[in-house]
Amino acid sequence: MKSLDDVQVIQSGSTGCGGGNCGCGGDASVLQSTDLTGAIQERYSEVARRGAENEVIDTSCCSNATALYSESSLQNVTPEAAGASAGCGNPVGIAEVKPGETVLDLGSGGGIDCFLAAQATGEEGHVYGVDMTHEMLKLARSNAEKLDAQNVTFLLGKIEAVPLPDEAVDLVISNCVIALAPDKQLVFDEIYRVLKPGGRFVVSDIVSTTELPEDARQDMAEWVACIGGADLQSRYMDRIAGTGFEQTEVVAEEQFSSDNSEDQWRASLRSVTVRAFKPA
Ligand SMILES: C[S@@+](CC[C@H](N)C(=O)[O-])C[C@H]1O[C@@H](n2cnc3c(N)ncnc32)[C@H](O)[C@@H]1O
Repeated sequence: MKSLDDVQVIQSGSTGCGGGNCGCGGDASVLQSTDLTGAIQERYSEVARRGAENEVIDTSCCSNATALYSESSLQNVTPEAAGASAGCGNPVGIAEVKPGETVLDLGSGGGIDCFLAAQATGEEGHVYGVDMTHEMLKLARSNAEKLDAQNVTFLLGKIEAVPLPDEAVDLVISNCVIALAPDKQLVFDEIYRVLKPGGRFVVSDIVSTTELPEDARQDMAEWVACIGGADLQSRYMDRIAGTGFEQTEVVAEEQFSSDNSEDQWRASLRSVTVRAFKPA
């Protein structure tokens, strides 16, 4: 079984995303960590710190909040949650969250999707956010306090070993996080485990339509930018079906990078939102 630290990645001067200011708010060439978990935590700690200070982050690896969410949605979260937003889609906008549901957000970051989901579940429901980066948890918890969001709980943990019991939630969402996990099967197995029978997931993620070159797969900067770990779309979909999910569907899809200059393969990157159901 592959773990985050089994991925042999190298430091590089690449900024990912076709040479743009990618890597979710920072220069990927200055990463200090030599292991992937550490590099991801380092990068997203920086995103959290900048979000907390209301610095506008060019999260062009992902998209900034104004590109993903309506103005009215953003008025319902703190500027700090919006500032740390590093997603690549709007899974909550698609998931049709119902009052009273229990929702889990994998890789919840500053909490933006949790807060939007919590407004839809109402006080009868509950939203759990799981993230492995302490700075992000700190920011998310501080945002929850500012919003007086009583129905949201942020948990420290890995999406490969979710700290919740079996069949605990109605809906799993995730926004630009599974691409950061070397063992995606482990993540889909966890989603299956924690979902109640008949439950669904709606995840936004980066995939590619052609295999990425090996040097991109081995590049730490590309990984933290959600690119190096982008799975082949067909394999990603097969994996979901193979886990046991039904009615698997790509419900939104967009080209991720329009940069065709140096690395042709970047044009095959897609931001997709996938929905699937656990059998009832
Ligand atoms: C690209 S950001 C997305 C954050 C959030 N979903 C959003 O839309 O703003 C990725 C987040 O996932 C977290 N993360 C990455 N890999 C993780 C893992 N294996 N387990 C738990 N959290 C992880 C990072 O700490 C970071 O907060």
